[in-house]
Amino acid sequence: MDTIQSYIKANKDRFINELVELLKIPSISADSNYKNEVLKTAQAVKLSLERAGCEHVEICETDGHPIVYGEKIIHSDLPTVLVYGHYDVQPPDPLNLWHSPPFEPVIQTTNKHPEGAIFARGASDDKGQMFMHVKAMELMTSTNQLPCNVKFMIEGEEEVGSSNLSIFVKNHREKLKNDVILISDTGMIANDTPSITTGLRGLSYVEVEVTGPNRDLHSGLYGGAVANPINILSKMIASMHDENNHITIPGFYDKVEELSDMERAEMAKAPFNLENYKKALNIDAVHGEAGYSTHERTSIRPTLDVNGIWGGYTGEGAKTVIPSKAYAKISMRLVPHQNWEEITQLFTAYFERIAPEGVTVKVSPHHGGQGYVTPIDHIGYQAASKAYTDTFGKTPIPQRSGGSIPIVSLFEKELKSKTILMGFGLDSDAIHSPNEHFGIFNFLKGIETIPLFFKYFTQFYKE
Ligand code: BES
Ligand code: MN
Ligand code: MN
Repeated sequence: MDTIQSYIKANKDRFINELVELLKIPSISADSNYKNEVLKTAQAVKLSLERAGCEHVEICETDGHPIVYGEKIIHSDLPTVLVYGHYDVQPPDPLNLWHSPPFEPVIQTTNKHPEGAIFARGASDDKGQMFMHVKAMELMTSTNQLPCNVKFMIEGEEEVGSSNLSIFVKNHREKLKNDVILISDTGMIANDTPSITTGLRGLSYVEVEVTGPNRDLHSGLYGGAVANPINILSKMIASMHDENNHITIPGFYDKVEELSDMERAEMAKAPFNLENYKKALNIDAVHGEAGYSTHERTSIRPTLDVNGIWGGYTGEGAKTVIPSKAYAKISMRLVPHQNWEEITQLFTAYFERIAPEGVTVKVSPHHGGQGYVTPIDHIGYQAASKAYTDTFGKTPIPQRSGGSIPIVSLFEKELKSKTILMGFGLDSDAIHSPNEHFGIFNFLKGIETIPLFFKYFTQFYKE
Protein backbone atom coordinates (compact mmCIF):
# COMPACT_ATOMS: atom_id res chain seq x y z
CA MET A 1 0.00 0.00 0.00
CA ASP A 2 1.31 3.46 -0.83
CA THR A 3 1.42 6.37 1.63
CA ILE A 4 -1.83 7.88 0.35
CA GLN A 5 -3.80 4.70 0.88
CA SER A 6 -2.24 3.92 4.24
CA TYR A 7 -2.86 7.45 5.53
CA ILE A 8 -6.52 7.21 4.52
CA LYS A 9 -6.88 3.77 6.05
CA ALA A 10 -5.42 4.96 9.35
CA ASN A 11 -7.49 8.15 9.50
CA LYS A 12 -10.76 7.47 7.72
CA ASP A 13 -12.95 7.21 10.81
CA ARG A 14 -11.70 10.57 12.02
CA PHE A 15 -12.26 12.08 8.53
CA ILE A 16 -15.86 10.89 8.59
CA ASN A 17 -16.44 12.11 12.14
CA GLU A 18 -15.08 15.55 11.28
CA LEU A 19 -17.35 15.78 8.25
CA VAL A 20 -20.32 14.74 10.41
CA GLU A 21 -19.53 17.62 12.81
CA LEU A 22 -19.41 20.10 9.91
CA LEU A 23 -22.73 18.82 8.56
CA LYS A 24 -24.41 19.46 11.91
CA ILE A 25 -24.19 23.24 11.45
CA PRO A 26 -27.15 24.48 9.37
CA SER A 27 -25.38 26.88 6.99
CA ILE A 28 -28.48 27.83 4.99
CA SER A 29 -27.35 30.86 3.00
CA ALA A 30 -30.80 31.74 1.63
CA ASP A 31 -32.38 32.21 5.05
CA SER A 32 -31.24 35.25 7.06
CA ASN A 33 -32.33 33.52 10.29
CA TYR A 34 -29.28 31.29 9.86
CA LYS A 35 -26.71 34.07 9.43
CA ASN A 36 -24.95 33.12 12.65
CA GLU A 37 -24.86 29.42 11.75
CA VAL A 38 -23.34 30.30 8.40
CA LEU A 39 -20.64 32.29 10.20
CA LYS A 40 -20.03 29.38 12.61
CA THR A 41 -19.53 27.11 9.63
CA ALA A 42 -17.01 29.54 8.15
CA GLN A 43 -15.11 29.46 11.46
CA ALA A 44 -15.14 25.65 11.45
CA VAL A 45 -13.81 25.60 7.88
CA LYS A 46 -11.07 28.07 8.87
CA LEU A 47 -9.97 25.84 11.74
CA SER A 48 -9.95 22.77 9.52
CA LEU A 49 -7.76 24.52 6.94
CA GLU A 50 -5.29 25.58 9.64
CA ARG A 51 -5.12 22.02 10.94
CA ALA A 52 -4.56 20.78 7.39
CA GLY A 53 -1.41 22.88 7.09
CA CYS A 54 -2.69 26.03 5.38
CA GLU A 55 -1.17 29.37 6.31
CA HIS A 56 -2.60 32.90 6.52
CA VAL A 57 -6.08 31.45 6.92
CA GLU A 58 -8.64 34.24 7.19
CA ILE A 59 -12.34 34.89 7.20
CA CYS A 60 -12.97 37.55 4.59
CA GLU A 61 -16.06 39.61 5.33
CA THR A 62 -18.37 40.53 2.45
CA ASP A 63 -21.72 42.32 2.25
CA GLY A 64 -23.20 38.87 2.61
CA HIS A 65 -21.76 35.66 4.07
CA PRO A 66 -17.97 35.44 4.51
CA ILE A 67 -15.38 33.75 2.32
CA VAL A 68 -12.72 31.52 3.92
CA TYR A 69 -9.28 31.91 2.37
CA GLY A 70 -6.04 30.07 3.13
CA GLU A 71 -2.87 29.14 1.29
CA LYS A 72 0.38 27.25 1.38
CA ILE A 73 3.00 28.76 -0.87
CA ILE A 74 6.11 26.61 -1.20
CA HIS A 75 8.02 28.24 -4.04
CA SER A 76 7.34 30.81 -6.73
CA ASP A 77 8.72 28.51 -9.44
CA LEU A 78 6.07 25.91 -8.71
CA PRO A 79 2.54 25.99 -10.11
CA THR A 80 -0.40 27.14 -7.97
CA VAL A 81 -3.67 25.28 -7.66
CA LEU A 82 -6.68 27.29 -6.46
CA VAL A 83 -9.26 25.09 -4.75
CA TYR A 84 -12.79 26.49 -4.71
CA GLY A 85 -15.79 25.06 -2.87
CA HIS A 86 -18.81 26.21 -0.90
CA TYR A 87 -19.78 25.62 2.71
CA ASP A 88 -23.34 26.95 2.39
CA VAL A 89 -26.27 24.61 1.75
CA GLN A 90 -29.77 24.69 0.30
CA PRO A 91 -32.76 25.01 2.63
CA PRO A 92 -33.76 21.49 3.73
CA ASP A 93 -37.53 21.71 3.29
CA PRO A 94 -39.87 19.90 2.88
CA LEU A 95 -38.74 18.58 6.26
CA ASN A 96 -41.41 15.89 6.59
CA LEU A 97 -39.91 13.96 3.66
CA TRP A 98 -36.56 13.42 5.39
CA HIS A 99 -36.11 9.99 6.98
CA SER A 100 -33.75 11.54 9.54
CA PRO A 101 -33.32 15.25 10.43
CA PRO A 102 -31.25 17.11 7.79
CA PHE A 103 -28.71 18.45 10.29
CA GLU A 104 -28.33 15.27 12.34
CA PRO A 105 -26.16 13.20 10.00
CA VAL A 106 -26.63 9.42 9.95
CA ILE A 107 -24.70 6.76 8.06
CA GLN A 108 -26.75 4.15 6.28
CA THR A 109 -26.15 1.66 3.49
CA THR A 110 -28.13 1.84 0.23
CA ASN A 111 -28.18 -0.24 -2.97
CA LYS A 112 -25.76 2.16 -4.59
CA HIS A 113 -23.69 2.55 -1.43
CA PRO A 114 -23.01 -0.83 0.19
CA GLU A 115 -20.17 0.84 2.17
CA GLY A 116 -22.63 3.36 3.57
CA ALA A 117 -23.55 6.95 2.82
CA ILE A 118 -23.82 10.01 5.07
CA PHE A 119 -27.35 11.45 5.01
CA ALA A 120 -27.50 15.20 5.72
CA ARG A 121 -28.16 18.47 3.92
CA GLY A 122 -24.86 19.47 2.26
CA ALA A 123 -23.37 15.96 2.48
CA SER A 124 -22.70 15.93 -1.27
CA ASP A 125 -23.41 19.59 -2.20
CA ASP A 126 -20.92 20.74 -1.21
CA LYS A 127 -19.60 20.29 2.33
CA GLY A 128 -18.66 16.64 1.80
CA GLN A 129 -16.93 17.31 -1.49
CA MET A 130 -15.24 20.48 -0.29
CA PHE A 131 -13.99 18.64 2.80
CA MET A 132 -12.29 15.99 0.62
CA HIS A 133 -9.90 18.77 -0.42
CA VAL A 134 -9.24 19.80 3.16
CA LYS A 135 -8.42 16.19 4.08
CA ALA A 136 -6.34 15.70 0.91
CA MET A 137 -4.40 18.82 1.92
CA GLU A 138 -3.88 17.42 5.42
CA LEU A 139 -2.71 14.17 3.87
CA MET A 140 -0.22 15.90 1.55
CA THR A 141 1.26 18.15 4.24
CA SER A 142 1.49 15.43 6.91
CA THR A 143 3.13 12.94 4.56
CA ASN A 144 5.43 15.52 2.97
CA GLN A 145 4.08 15.20 -0.52
CA LEU A 146 2.57 18.56 -1.32
CA PRO A 147 4.20 19.16 -4.72
CA CYS A 148 3.09 22.75 -5.47
CA ASN A 149 1.46 25.88 -4.10
CA VAL A 150 -2.17 25.76 -2.99
CA LYS A 151 -4.78 28.42 -2.37
CA PHE A 152 -8.17 27.64 -0.84
CA MET A 153 -11.23 29.83 -1.37
CA ILE A 154 -14.38 28.43 0.23
CA GLU A 155 -17.46 30.62 -0.04
CA GLY A 156 -20.80 30.79 1.75
CA GLU A 157 -23.10 32.09 -0.98
CA GLU A 158 -22.90 29.64 -3.88
CA GLU A 159 -26.48 28.52 -3.42
CA VAL A 160 -27.70 32.11 -3.63
CA GLY A 161 -25.75 33.21 -6.70
CA SER A 162 -22.21 34.10 -5.48
CA SER A 163 -22.67 37.83 -6.09
CA ASN A 164 -20.33 38.89 -3.27
CA LEU A 165 -17.71 36.37 -4.35
CA SER A 166 -17.75 37.99 -7.82
CA ILE A 167 -16.81 41.31 -6.21
CA PHE A 168 -14.13 39.63 -4.07
CA VAL A 169 -12.57 37.97 -7.13
CA LYS A 170 -12.52 41.22 -9.12
CA ASN A 171 -10.85 42.99 -6.18
CA HIS A 172 -8.24 40.32 -5.45
CA ARG A 173 -6.92 39.17 -8.81
CA GLU A 174 -3.29 39.15 -7.62
CA LYS A 175 -4.01 37.28 -4.39
CA LEU A 176 -6.00 34.64 -6.27
CA LYS A 177 -3.52 34.24 -9.15
CA ASN A 178 -3.19 30.57 -10.07
CA ASP A 179 -2.36 28.10 -12.82
CA VAL A 180 -5.51 26.03 -12.54
CA ILE A 181 -8.70 26.00 -10.48
CA LEU A 182 -9.87 22.76 -8.93
CA ILE A 183 -13.49 22.20 -7.86
CA SER A 184 -15.38 19.20 -6.53
CA ASP A 185 -19.01 20.31 -6.74
CA THR A 186 -20.34 18.12 -9.54
CA GLY A 187 -20.95 14.42 -10.07
CA MET A 188 -19.72 11.38 -11.93
CA ILE A 189 -21.59 8.65 -13.81
CA ALA A 190 -21.30 5.78 -11.29
CA ASN A 191 -18.86 4.38 -8.75
CA ASP A 192 -17.62 1.86 -11.32
CA THR A 193 -17.78 4.38 -14.21
CA PRO A 194 -15.69 7.42 -13.33
CA SER A 195 -16.24 10.59 -15.35
CA ILE A 196 -14.97 14.16 -15.26
CA THR A 197 -17.34 17.06 -15.84
CA THR A 198 -16.22 19.12 -18.85
CA GLY A 199 -19.14 21.52 -19.10
CA LEU A 200 -21.65 23.43 -17.00
CA ARG A 201 -24.78 25.15 -18.18
CA GLY A 202 -25.39 28.86 -17.73
CA LEU A 203 -28.46 30.21 -16.02
CA SER A 204 -30.96 33.03 -16.23
CA TYR A 205 -33.40 33.16 -13.33
CA VAL A 206 -36.39 35.52 -13.39
CA GLU A 207 -39.56 36.17 -11.45
CA VAL A 208 -42.72 37.29 -13.24
CA GLU A 209 -45.83 39.01 -11.96
CA VAL A 210 -49.14 39.29 -13.82
CA THR A 211 -51.70 41.80 -12.53
CA GLY A 212 -55.35 41.88 -13.55
CA PRO A 213 -58.10 43.73 -11.64
CA ASN A 214 -57.09 46.03 -8.79
CA ARG A 215 -58.41 43.57 -6.15
CA ASP A 216 -59.50 39.97 -5.76
CA LEU A 217 -63.03 39.64 -7.21
CA HIS A 218 -66.04 37.39 -6.66
CA SER A 219 -65.61 34.75 -9.37
CA GLY A 220 -69.37 34.53 -9.89
CA LEU A 221 -70.10 38.23 -10.20
CA TYR A 222 -67.08 39.02 -12.37
CA GLY A 223 -66.06 35.59 -13.75
CA GLY A 224 -66.14 35.54 -17.55
CA ALA A 225 -65.80 39.28 -17.95
CA VAL A 226 -62.28 40.10 -16.71
CA ALA A 227 -58.88 38.55 -17.34
CA ASN A 228 -57.91 36.06 -14.64
CA PRO A 229 -54.14 36.56 -14.08
CA ILE A 230 -53.59 32.89 -13.22
CA ASN A 231 -55.37 31.71 -16.39
CA ILE A 232 -53.39 34.23 -18.41
CA LEU A 233 -50.04 33.39 -16.80
CA SER A 234 -50.62 29.66 -17.38
CA LYS A 235 -51.36 30.29 -21.03
CA MET A 236 -48.32 32.56 -21.44
CA ILE A 237 -46.07 29.95 -19.85
CA ALA A 238 -47.58 27.16 -21.94
CA SER A 239 -46.97 29.14 -25.12
CA MET A 240 -43.25 29.32 -24.38
CA HIS A 241 -42.76 25.78 -25.75
CA ASP A 242 -44.06 24.58 -29.12
CA GLU A 243 -45.28 21.07 -30.00
CA ASN A 244 -41.65 19.91 -30.36
CA ASN A 245 -40.75 21.34 -26.97
CA HIS A 246 -38.67 24.03 -28.59
CA ILE A 247 -38.60 27.31 -26.72
CA THR A 248 -40.55 29.94 -28.68
CA ILE A 249 -38.74 33.09 -27.50
CA PRO A 250 -37.44 34.73 -30.69
CA GLY A 251 -33.63 34.66 -30.84
CA PHE A 252 -33.34 32.21 -27.92
CA TYR A 253 -31.36 29.64 -29.92
CA ASP A 254 -29.34 32.09 -32.05
CA LYS A 255 -26.03 31.54 -30.22
CA VAL A 256 -26.53 27.91 -29.25
CA GLU A 257 -23.60 25.88 -30.44
CA GLU A 258 -24.74 22.88 -32.53
CA LEU A 259 -22.52 19.88 -31.94
CA SER A 260 -21.23 17.93 -34.91
CA ASP A 261 -22.55 14.41 -35.56
CA MET A 262 -19.15 13.13 -34.46
CA GLU A 263 -19.29 14.95 -31.15
CA ARG A 264 -22.82 13.70 -30.58
CA ALA A 265 -21.78 10.14 -31.41
CA GLU A 266 -18.92 10.49 -28.91
CA MET A 267 -21.37 11.69 -26.24
CA ALA A 268 -23.72 8.81 -26.93
CA LYS A 269 -21.01 6.36 -25.90
CA ALA A 270 -21.43 7.27 -22.23
CA PRO A 271 -23.39 4.51 -20.52
CA PHE A 272 -27.04 5.41 -19.99
CA ASN A 273 -30.04 3.20 -19.36
CA LEU A 274 -33.37 4.86 -20.10
CA GLU A 275 -35.42 2.20 -18.34
CA ASN A 276 -33.45 2.59 -15.11
CA TYR A 277 -33.64 6.36 -15.42
CA LYS A 278 -37.45 6.25 -15.67
CA LYS A 279 -37.67 3.70 -12.89
CA ALA A 280 -35.55 5.80 -10.53
CA LEU A 281 -37.94 8.75 -11.04
CA ASN A 282 -41.13 6.69 -11.18
CA ILE A 283 -42.17 8.13 -14.55
CA ASP A 284 -43.49 6.22 -17.56
CA ALA A 285 -41.89 8.44 -20.20
CA VAL A 286 -39.23 11.09 -20.53
CA HIS A 287 -40.15 14.47 -21.98
CA GLY A 288 -38.08 17.02 -23.86
CA GLU A 289 -36.93 18.70 -27.01
CA ALA A 290 -37.60 16.65 -30.15
CA GLY A 291 -34.52 15.33 -31.92
CA TYR A 292 -32.29 15.06 -28.84
CA SER A 293 -31.46 12.24 -26.44
CA THR A 294 -32.12 12.51 -22.70
CA HIS A 295 -28.47 13.12 -22.00
CA GLU A 296 -28.27 15.80 -24.70
CA ARG A 297 -31.40 17.47 -23.34
CA THR A 298 -29.74 17.78 -19.93
CA SER A 299 -26.34 18.98 -21.09
CA ILE A 300 -25.88 20.55 -24.53
CA ARG A 301 -29.41 21.99 -24.94
CA PRO A 302 -30.95 24.99 -23.18
CA THR A 303 -34.21 24.78 -21.22
CA LEU A 304 -36.97 26.90 -19.71
CA ASP A 305 -38.70 25.67 -16.56
CA VAL A 306 -41.14 27.05 -14.03
CA ASN A 307 -39.71 26.52 -10.54
CA GLY A 308 -42.72 27.79 -8.67
CA ILE A 309 -46.09 29.34 -9.43
CA TRP A 310 -48.57 30.94 -7.06
CA GLY A 311 -51.48 33.30 -6.64
CA GLY A 312 -55.12 33.27 -5.60
CA TYR A 313 -56.52 31.09 -2.88
CA THR A 314 -54.55 28.00 -1.86
CA GLY A 315 -55.78 27.56 1.70
CA GLU A 316 -58.11 24.91 3.06
CA GLY A 317 -61.49 24.41 1.42
CA ALA A 318 -62.76 26.58 -1.41
CA LYS A 319 -62.91 30.31 -1.95
CA THR A 320 -64.55 31.56 -5.13
CA VAL A 321 -62.25 34.29 -6.25
CA ILE A 322 -60.60 35.79 -9.30
CA PRO A 323 -57.19 36.85 -8.00
CA SER A 324 -55.71 40.21 -8.70
CA LYS A 325 -52.22 38.80 -9.20
CA ALA A 326 -50.32 35.69 -10.30
CA TYR A 327 -46.61 34.96 -9.99
CA ALA A 328 -44.00 32.50 -11.21
CA LYS A 329 -40.28 31.87 -10.83
CA ILE A 330 -38.70 30.73 -14.07
CA SER A 331 -35.22 29.40 -14.75
CA MET A 332 -33.55 29.04 -18.11
CA ARG A 333 -30.54 26.73 -18.30
CA LEU A 334 -28.20 27.97 -21.00
CA VAL A 335 -25.38 26.47 -22.97
CA PRO A 336 -21.95 27.95 -23.71
CA HIS A 337 -22.04 31.06 -25.97
CA GLN A 338 -25.57 32.01 -24.93
CA ASN A 339 -25.21 35.25 -23.00
CA TRP A 340 -27.34 35.14 -19.87
CA GLU A 341 -28.01 38.87 -19.77
CA GLU A 342 -29.09 38.87 -23.40
CA ILE A 343 -31.36 35.87 -22.78
CA THR A 344 -32.90 37.66 -19.80
CA GLN A 345 -33.66 40.61 -22.10
CA LEU A 346 -35.12 38.39 -24.83
CA PHE A 347 -37.33 36.71 -22.24
CA THR A 348 -38.49 40.03 -20.82
CA ALA A 349 -39.31 41.53 -24.22
CA TYR A 350 -41.21 38.39 -25.27
CA PHE A 351 -43.10 38.07 -22.01
CA GLU A 352 -44.21 41.69 -22.25
CA ARG A 353 -45.19 41.26 -25.90
CA ILE A 354 -47.35 38.15 -25.44
CA ALA A 355 -49.26 39.59 -22.49
CA PRO A 356 -52.85 40.15 -23.66
CA GLU A 357 -54.91 43.26 -23.02
CA GLY A 358 -56.53 43.29 -19.62
CA VAL A 359 -53.37 42.50 -17.62
CA THR A 360 -50.06 44.17 -16.93
CA VAL A 361 -46.85 42.20 -16.44
CA LYS A 362 -43.56 42.74 -14.63
CA VAL A 363 -40.36 40.72 -15.05
CA SER A 364 -37.69 40.89 -12.32
CA PRO A 365 -34.34 39.26 -13.09
CA HIS A 366 -32.85 37.37 -10.12
CA HIS A 367 -29.39 36.14 -11.02
CA GLY A 368 -27.58 34.30 -13.71
CA GLY A 369 -24.28 33.23 -15.12
CA GLN A 370 -22.51 31.92 -18.15
CA GLY A 371 -21.98 28.29 -19.11
CA TYR A 372 -18.51 26.80 -19.19
CA VAL A 373 -16.46 24.18 -21.06
CA THR A 374 -13.10 22.62 -20.04
CA PRO A 375 -10.95 21.59 -23.01
CA ILE A 376 -9.79 17.99 -22.57
CA ASP A 377 -6.32 18.78 -23.95
CA HIS A 378 -5.60 21.11 -20.99
CA ILE A 379 -2.88 19.76 -18.66
CA GLY A 380 -5.32 20.09 -15.77
CA TYR A 381 -7.76 17.74 -17.48
CA GLN A 382 -4.93 15.36 -18.37
CA ALA A 383 -3.72 15.34 -14.77
CA ALA A 384 -7.22 14.68 -13.46
CA SER A 385 -7.74 11.89 -15.98
CA LYS A 386 -4.49 10.20 -14.97
CA ALA A 387 -5.35 10.54 -11.28
CA TYR A 388 -8.77 8.87 -11.76
CA THR A 389 -7.21 6.16 -13.91
CA ASP A 390 -4.87 5.32 -11.01
CA THR A 391 -7.54 5.24 -8.31
CA PHE A 392 -10.49 3.75 -10.25
CA GLY A 393 -8.49 1.52 -12.58
CA LYS A 394 -10.44 2.98 -15.52
CA THR A 395 -10.01 6.02 -17.74
CA PRO A 396 -12.69 8.57 -16.78
CA ILE A 397 -15.24 9.64 -19.41
CA PRO A 398 -15.43 13.39 -20.15
CA GLN A 399 -19.03 14.48 -19.73
CA ARG A 400 -20.93 17.77 -19.79
CA SER A 401 -23.28 18.39 -16.91
CA GLY A 402 -26.65 20.10 -16.80
CA GLY A 403 -26.04 21.98 -13.56
CA SER A 404 -24.56 25.43 -13.11
CA ILE A 405 -21.75 26.96 -11.10
CA PRO A 406 -21.90 30.51 -12.47
CA ILE A 407 -18.70 31.65 -10.76
CA VAL A 408 -16.61 29.32 -12.97
CA SER A 409 -17.00 31.47 -16.08
CA LEU A 410 -16.23 34.56 -13.99
CA PHE A 411 -13.01 32.87 -12.82
CA GLU A 412 -12.03 32.39 -16.44
CA LYS A 413 -12.80 35.99 -17.29
CA GLU A 414 -11.17 37.63 -14.26
CA LEU A 415 -8.35 35.21 -13.35
CA LYS A 416 -7.71 33.88 -16.86
CA SER A 417 -7.53 30.32 -15.70
CA LYS A 418 -9.33 27.12 -16.52
CA THR A 419 -11.31 25.09 -14.01
CA ILE A 420 -11.12 21.32 -13.62
CA LEU A 421 -14.37 19.87 -12.26
CA MET A 422 -13.39 16.78 -10.29
CA GLY A 423 -16.77 15.86 -8.84
CA PHE A 424 -17.28 12.64 -6.90
CA GLY A 425 -21.04 12.85 -6.27
CA LEU A 426 -23.73 10.77 -7.99
CA ASP A 427 -26.95 12.08 -9.57
CA SER A 428 -28.78 9.88 -7.07
CA ASP A 429 -27.25 11.78 -4.11
CA ALA A 430 -30.48 13.84 -3.98
CA ILE A 431 -28.74 17.21 -3.79
CA HIS A 432 -31.24 20.04 -3.10
CA SER A 433 -33.82 17.30 -2.25
CA PRO A 434 -34.87 15.55 0.95
CA ASN A 435 -32.48 12.78 2.08
CA GLU A 436 -29.38 14.19 0.43
CA HIS A 437 -26.45 11.84 0.96
CA PHE A 438 -22.83 11.23 -0.03
CA GLY A 439 -21.23 7.80 -0.34
CA ILE A 440 -18.38 6.97 2.05
CA PHE A 441 -16.72 5.29 -0.95
CA ASN A 442 -17.01 8.54 -2.92
CA PHE A 443 -15.71 10.66 -0.04
CA LEU A 444 -12.64 8.47 0.48
CA LYS A 445 -12.04 8.01 -3.27
CA GLY A 446 -11.98 11.78 -3.61
CA ILE A 447 -9.40 12.13 -0.83
CA GLU A 448 -7.30 9.47 -2.56
CA THR A 449 -7.58 10.97 -6.07
CA ILE A 450 -6.93 14.64 -5.24
CA PRO A 451 -3.26 14.27 -4.15
CA LEU A 452 -2.58 12.42 -7.42
CA PHE A 453 -4.09 15.34 -9.33
CA PHE A 454 -1.61 17.63 -7.57
CA LYS A 455 1.26 15.28 -8.36
CA TYR A 456 0.46 14.89 -12.06
CA PHE A 457 -0.46 18.53 -12.56
CA THR A 458 2.90 19.64 -11.14
CA GLN A 459 4.66 17.05 -13.28
CA PHE A 460 2.90 18.10 -16.52
CA TYR A 461 3.42 21.77 -15.68
CA LYS A 462 7.18 21.27 -15.48
CA GLU A 463 7.36 19.24 -18.72
N1 BES B 1 -23.12 21.94 -7.08
C1 BES B 1 -24.27 22.52 -7.72
C2 BES B 1 -24.18 22.50 -9.23
C3 BES B 1 -24.01 21.15 -9.89
C4 BES B 1 -24.44 19.97 -9.30
C5 BES B 1 -23.42 21.09 -11.12
C6 BES B 1 -24.26 18.76 -9.94
C7 BES B 1 -23.27 19.90 -11.77
C8 BES B 1 -23.68 18.72 -11.17
C9 BES B 1 -24.44 23.95 -7.23
O1 BES B 1 -24.34 24.03 -5.84
C10 BES B 1 -25.80 24.43 -7.59
O2 BES B 1 -26.76 23.94 -7.03
N2 BES B 1 -25.92 25.41 -8.50
C11 BES B 1 -27.18 26.03 -8.82
C12 BES B 1 -26.99 27.39 -9.38
C13 BES B 1 -26.80 28.48 -8.35
C14 BES B 1 -26.72 29.82 -9.03
C15 BES B 1 -27.89 28.49 -7.30
C16 BES B 1 -27.91 25.22 -9.86
O3 BES B 1 -27.32 24.54 -10.70
O4 BES B 1 -29.15 25.30 -9.82
MN1 MN C 1 -22.73 22.97 -5.12
MN1 MN D 1 -26.29 23.36 -4.99
